[in-house]
Amino acid sequence: MWKKFFYKSENKQDQAEMTSVRDDILPAHIAIIMDGNGRWAKKRGLPRKAGHKKGVDALREIVKAACSINIEFLTVYAFSTENWKRPTTEVNFLMKLFSYYLHSEIDEMNKNNVRLNFIGCLTELSGELQRQIRQGEAKTAANTGLNLNIAVNYGGRDELVMAVKDVAQKVLTKEIELDDIDEKMVDNSLYTAHKPPIDLLIRTGGDMRISNFLLWQCAYAEFWFTEKNWPEFTPEQFMRAIADYQKRDRRFGGLDNE
Ligand code: IPE
Ligand code: IPE
Ligand code: MG
Repeated sequence: MWKKFFYKSENKQDQAEMTSVRDDILPAHIAIIMDGNGRWAKKRGLPRKAGHKKGVDALREIVKAACSINIEFLTVYAFSTENWKRPTTEVNFLMKLFSYYLHSEIDEMNKNNVRLNFIGCLTELSGELQRQIRQGEAKTAANTGLNLNIAVNYGGRDELVMAVKDVAQKVLTKEIELDDIDEKMVDNSLYTAHKPPIDLLIRTGGDMRISNFLLWQCAYAEFWFTEKNWPEFTPEQFMRAIADYQKRDRRFGGLDNE
């Protein structure tokens, strides 16, 4: 029932014995707010974009780690609906980085049986990036392992507004009655339709807030925060987060089973 993971990285120095995680109570759906790229770079006297680049490497390792323990769903926050407020140069760099990611990681994803999916208001992205996203999703669509959701131009409030409009439209066209609206219908109107709710939310970078990520889906998520910035977040810490999660007492409003 307990599994000790030995993580093999290409980088010899990174090879480390993992914290033990139980394989019977794994979180079905993990979400990560990958924060702190800019601060990681600043600390090293580097431009912010160096932090974002390094962040891609960190994500690659975490995806591999998630695959190694058979996590079903991993949803990562890459760009929020509020991140457009940043200088155009940074926004453009991030968009280019997403294109690069879609180009560079697909083979590795296929090797690891990862199914890629993007969530967020994708129609506001450039036509070229939207095409690359559709292509990346199509190339991995037949995979049956980890479902990797990347949130780009994602906002939890924006998502809820979209869902409300969707449901309201169905009432207007008399497809449904007002009383047909229930939690399941709202849930299935979100970008994450038919995916399980978040069990574990990890945020790097030291801030303890949700920043408009998966507001509905995190209703009963366990939160795990670390001071580490995203580029220095390792599979070792990922396993530690899961091991901590496994010690939590999740009551969902009920009472403990005595
Ligand atoms: C997270 O790192 C990545 C994105 C939001 C795109 P930040 O860019 O927010 O880095 P900090 O928080 O400023 O250090
Ligand atoms: C959250 O980080 C968004 C992503 C990680 C993509 P931010 O850096 O945008 O969040 P705040 O501004 O610190 O709340
Ligand atoms: Mg930040």
